[in-house]
Amino acid sequence: MNIVHISAECYPYAKAGGLGDVVGALPKYLNQSGHRSHVIIPFYYNNKLKKANKTLVYESNALLGGEPFIFRVYKIDDSQDFDLFVIDIPGRFDRPGVYIDPWSGHAYWDEKERFFSFQIAALEWLKIQDEKPDIIHSHDHHTGLIPFMMSQAFRFEKFRETPSVLTIHNGEYQGRYNRDDYDLLPAFNLENLGLLDWDGALNSLAAGIKSAWKVTTVSEGYMNELLEYCHGLEQLLRHEKEKTTGIVNGIDSDVWNPADDPYISDHFSVKNFKTGKKKNKKVLCDEFSINHNRPLFSFIGRLVREKGADLLPGLIKSCHENGIEASFLVLGTGDPGLHQIFENLQSDYVGYFDTRLEYNEKLAHQIYAGSDFLLMPSRVEPCGLNQLYAMRYGTIPVVRKTGGLADTVIDFEEKNGYGVVFDEFDQKEAVEAVKRGVELFNIKQLFNKKVKQVMSLDYSWKSSTGNYIKLYHSLLNK
Ligand code: GLC
Repeated sequence: MNIVHISAECYPYAKAGGLGDVVGALPKYLNQSGHRSHVIIPFYYNNKLKKANKTLVYESNALLGGEPFIFRVYKIDDSQDFDLFVIDIPGRFDRPGVYIDPWSGHAYWDEKERFFSFQIAALEWLKIQDEKPDIIHSHDHHTGLIPFMMSQAFRFEKFRETPSVLTIHNGEYQGRYNRDDYDLLPAFNLENLGLLDWDGALNSLAAGIKSAWKVTTVSEGYMNELLEYCHGLEQLLRHEKEKTTGIVNGIDSDVWNPADDPYISDHFSVKNFKTGKKKNKKVLCDEFSINHNRPLFSFIGRLVREKGADLLPGLIKSCHENGIEASFLVLGTGDPGLHQIFENLQSDYVGYFDTRLEYNEKLAHQIYAGSDFLLMPSRVEPCGLNQLYAMRYGTIPVVRKTGGLADTVIDFEEKNGYGVVFDEFDQKEAVEAVKRGVELFNIKQLFNKKVKQVMSLDYSWKSSTGNYIKLYHSLLNK
C-alpha cells in the first residue's frame, strides 16, 4: 500500500508535542513492513528545516478564497526512513514556530489561513501526480479538512474514492473558525455546508470526523472518554461511532534505546540496568544539585492544565511537609504563571526540588535514564508517550488513570502490575501515590524486579503499526 500522511508536525523536523513523534515514526515502520509511506508537512523556517538538504519538486499557485498564493514543494534529501516533503508557503510558514511564535509566546494570528492554505496546497500537489495514494491519513484539526475536501466532487474529485483516515491526538483543539470563513475553501458550496458546520461555526475537526472514512484516536481508553465528552463534539462522535476506533501509539525503539542513546551519559540495557541507572542518576542529580540517594520523581512535558502540571507545586510542597524522602525534577515550558511558581519553589526547596523551564530534548533523555519515577498526573491523556519512553529506560511511571495512561500502565499492586496508578485528579491521591512509590523503592528486590519488568515490555511501533495496516486494508477492501 501507498500511504500518505499529512500533518502539522513530524519529528525531528517540526515537533511541538507527541503528534510530531508519532508522524516521525509510524511511516518508518510502515515502510519497514513492506508498504510505502511518505509525509507532507509545512516548511517552517526553523533551523533544522532551513539547513536540511532539499530539492524543489513542484511549484505552483492555488487559491485561498479568491486570493492566489504561491507554494513550493521540496523533498528533504536527508530524511532516510521515509520520504518527507515540505510545502513552502511564503507569507504563512516562513516563520520558525509550528503553532506559537517563539518571540511572543503567543499563537500565530493567522492559524486559519496557514493551515487552510497548507491543506489546499498538499492536495493540489498530490492531485497532479501520476500515482494515486491508496490511503490519505491526516492528523488533528490542522489537517482535518483534508477528508472533507477529498470527499467533494470539486477540485479534488480524483480522491473521492480514496480512503481517508483522521487520527485525533487531541480532541480539545478543534480549529473552530467563523462561519464566514467557509468560502476560503475551494470545495465549499452551500450543499456541503453541513459537513463543515458544527454548532454555528466552521469546525475543522468536526468536518474531519464527518467526512473521513475512519476516525481513530491514540488509545481505546481515550476514544471511550471522547464518546462521553469531547469539548462539544461528543454527540457527533457518538453519531459516527461505527467508524471510530482506538489504536495505542508505539515508541520508536531505535530513537528511544538506552543501550545506544547518544543523549545519555551511560548506556545500559535490561542486563545491566542497576549500574547503568545508578550512573545516569548520579550525573543527573549532580547537574541539578539534588540528593541522589533519595528516589527521584521527574515530570517532563508541557506545563499546562491538561497534563496536570498545576498539581505539581502543591504535591511537592505537601510531600516535603509530610517528610516524604524523595526528590523532584520538572522539565518543560508552558503557563507563565506556573513558571513563576516553580521558580519560587526551586529557591524554597533547594536539594528537594529543581527545575529547568525549557524544552530540551537531550536533557529529557537523561532524565528518563536517571530518574526512578516519572510523574504523569494528567487531567487528560489521549495516549501519552512519556510513560512509554520512561519504561523503556527503566523508570517507573506514576500516572493518573485516564486515557492512554490507563491503557498502558497497571498498578504494581495488581496482578502483573508494574507502575503506580491513582484514580482521581486530587492532590491527596497524588501524594499517596508518591508515598507508595517511595515504599516500593525501599523494597529493593521488588523495585528492581519492576524496573526489569517495565524495561522488558514491548510498546514499540511494531505492534501498533500492524493495527494501522489492518485498518488500512479493511478500507481498501470496502
Ligand atoms: C498528543 C496527546 C498525547 C499523545 C500524542 C501523540 O500530544 O496529548 O497523549 O501521546 O498526542 O498521539
